[in-house]
Amino acid sequence: MRTWQRRCAVIGFVYCFLLIGCEGEQSALAPAGRGAERIAHLFWWMTAGGTLIWLIMIGLAAYAIWIRPETHDAKRSRRWIIGGGVVVPTVVLAILLSYGLAMLPELLARPPQGSLQIEVDGIQWWWRVRYPGRTPEDTVELANEIRLPVGEPVEFLLRSTDVVHSFWVPSLGGKVDMIPGRQTRLTLEPTKTGRFRGVCAEYCGTAHTQMTFYVVVMQKPEFEQWLAVQRRSAGEPVDALARRGQYLFGTNGCGACHSVRGTSADGTIGPDLTHVGSRVSLGAGILGNESDDFLRWISDTDGTKPGVHMPAFHMLSDAELQALAAYLEGLK
Ligand code: CUA
Repeated sequence: MRTWQRRCAVIGFVYCFLLIGCEGEQSALAPAGRGAERIAHLFWWMTAGGTLIWLIMIGLAAYAIWIRPETHDAKRSRRWIIGGGVVVPTVVLAILLSYGLAMLPELLARPPQGSLQIEVDGIQWWWRVRYPGRTPEDTVELANEIRLPVGEPVEFLLRSTDVVHSFWVPSLGGKVDMIPGRQTRLTLEPTKTGRFRGVCAEYCGTAHTQMTFYVVVMQKPEFEQWLAVQRRSAGEPVDALARRGQYLFGTNGCGACHSVRGTSADGTIGPDLTHVGSRVSLGAGILGNESDDFLRWISDTDGTKPGVHMPAFHMLSDAELQALAAYLEGLK
């Protein structure tokens, strides 16, 4: 194999390797929603167009190197400059702009009346998620997790209580800023079931990169069942360890910041923990949801997520932390 062939093979291999990053639960190039499909479509058209223009430019550069200097013609050069420097960019940008503008009405369209509405508050550095019901008892609140039925448009009402955040689930659609004092809207329509990762796409302070969440897209009956369970109050602890954890939760002031519906804990500063044991992640998408994850989170909040407002409960013994973790994990 010649040197240039070897180089081409290496470059090809590196590109293929990079393309692996286009898959996964947080990729705008693996669309699982109406909006994301349109955006991915636009991306591929732009990539194809960009590649074509690049090849033409390389061809012209090679031609300029190859051509003999005496064949240089001032009039022809001027034509190339005006054509390649003014006409072609104007036409290409006009086409791109028209195509992008034509997509906007569809991306910004509000869903039909009666569609599911979900309120999301961006808070340093987590997400409060609310499914409003007809009555306060019907309203479901959770944190850092959104569940959606597949094939239905859903409207998100986005707010912020502190600084500007940006709500983005790359696999499902575009992103929209969450601005203090205002309410913005976004419609997403998932086309595939599965689990997708969402992020905050606007720098918002120390733990900005750890402000993530999960969207779980389910079949409609499964979704309705999940929502019905979420509407219920918290169940009673099932064993002695979890009961001890419930007691510690009450006596260490956890209820001042957190709510557990059906108990005296009714704090609203931090996430609602009524069904925290059934969630995909802890700490806004940074930990799993097993006993060990609860243990790590409660005993070392700041070490796990620098800047987080929840203090670590260093003063509790290992046995007490384990009881607390067992109680929280049992809140299914
Ligand atoms: Cu919230 Cu970045």
